[in-house]
Amino acid sequence: MKRRKSVITGTGSYAPEIVWTNDDLAKRVETSDNWIRERTGIRERRIAGPDEATSDLAFKAAMPALESAGILPSDLDGIILATATPDITFPSSACLLQAALKIPGIFAFDVNAVCSGFMYALKVADSMIVSGQCDTILVVGSEVMSRYVDWTDRSTCVLFGDGAGAVVLSSAQKEEDRGVGSIDLHADGRYWDLIHVPGGGSRQPASRTTPPGKDCTIRMKGGETFKMAVRTLAESVNEILKLEHLSMDSVDWVVPHQANIRILDALSERLGIPKEKFVINIDRYGNTSAASIPMALDEAVRDGRIRLNDRVVLTAFGSGVTWGSGLLTWEKD
Ligand code: ACO
Repeated sequence: MKRRKSVITGTGSYAPEIVWTNDDLAKRVETSDNWIRERTGIRERRIAGPDEATSDLAFKAAMPALESAGILPSDLDGIILATATPDITFPSSACLLQAALKIPGIFAFDVNAVCSGFMYALKVADSMIVSGQCDTILVVGSEVMSRYVDWTDRSTCVLFGDGAGAVVLSSAQKEEDRGVGSIDLHADGRYWDLIHVPGGGSRQPASRTTPPGKDCTIRMKGGETFKMAVRTLAESVNEILKLEHLSMDSVDWVVPHQANIRILDALSERLGIPKEKFVINIDRYGNTSAASIPMALDEAVRDGRIRLNDRVVLTAFGSGVTWGSGLLTWEKD
């Protein structure tokens, strides 16, 4: 008997309207457009408006994803939202998204694996569909990183941006061997402090910091993160191809987490997969954490780069540290 499979039947994304260029940042901290472009590949990033939070961005990415899947919110069995920047500490942003979509009753929960969050959410959704528990799940990556950035720290503030991406994951209706294949996930909590936000949780609540909110911004050991990202991403992509008995040449597209263009250059070199096969939009959005893979995927599907039968590798590394990769064989015409 054939194993049940899940397939992506719709994609969507949303980037807030406010654009901050590198020159805008150079007015706040000692940096330059040249330094940021050369060291990171970023030209500009989007910033959520004062009234926009993670679930608002998620809603605006979810609607086009549902539309392209040709379904209504009421057709969904559940919502899984990957985010490290929820609207409020609790309840989950997935519940707030569910309320906005007006579909009470179905399950809704957040997954927090920071920049690898979308890979984790996709694996959970795929497992639920493959095991026959449900047929249609909305999987979203949505982040408002700008609220957690220390805008006086030039080594981190130039990197991050806000955005959301969504996919509709459904049980495969056809016999062809397309859809979501293997997904390889990892974490190593010994390195929790490589990228972290120290305050705002139960160890150091925002109310106890002086001044209030002082330690509620991103701290990162950039150099160590860079090296670990390149090594683990390459290992993880190799693992996926081994599991699927595929060669590097058979990969049509790599849709990576967009953290730094130099990480992607090094990854392309290590894997021997040409950069032309990488879907890259870091220049326009910066690092949008869990949103970056579904945003890039949506862009490449909508502009026709990703086509029927294409083999697409997704790969991410993030705080935790967490990392993982997955293979899709594109189903939609
Ligand atoms: N403008 C100008 N100079 C700067 C800036 C800036 N924005 N930022 C740092 N510098 C300076 C530093 O102070 C340093 O100066 P010094 O030599 O006088 O001390 C110099 O530039 C070099 O600094 P490095 O930190 O060595 O620069 P590097 O080339 O490593 O780039 C960067 C830093 C961009 C942060 C890089 O290390 C990186 O991208 N790391 C990985 C980040 C990542 O992958 N994150 C993923 C996960 S994020 C998540 O999960 C939320």
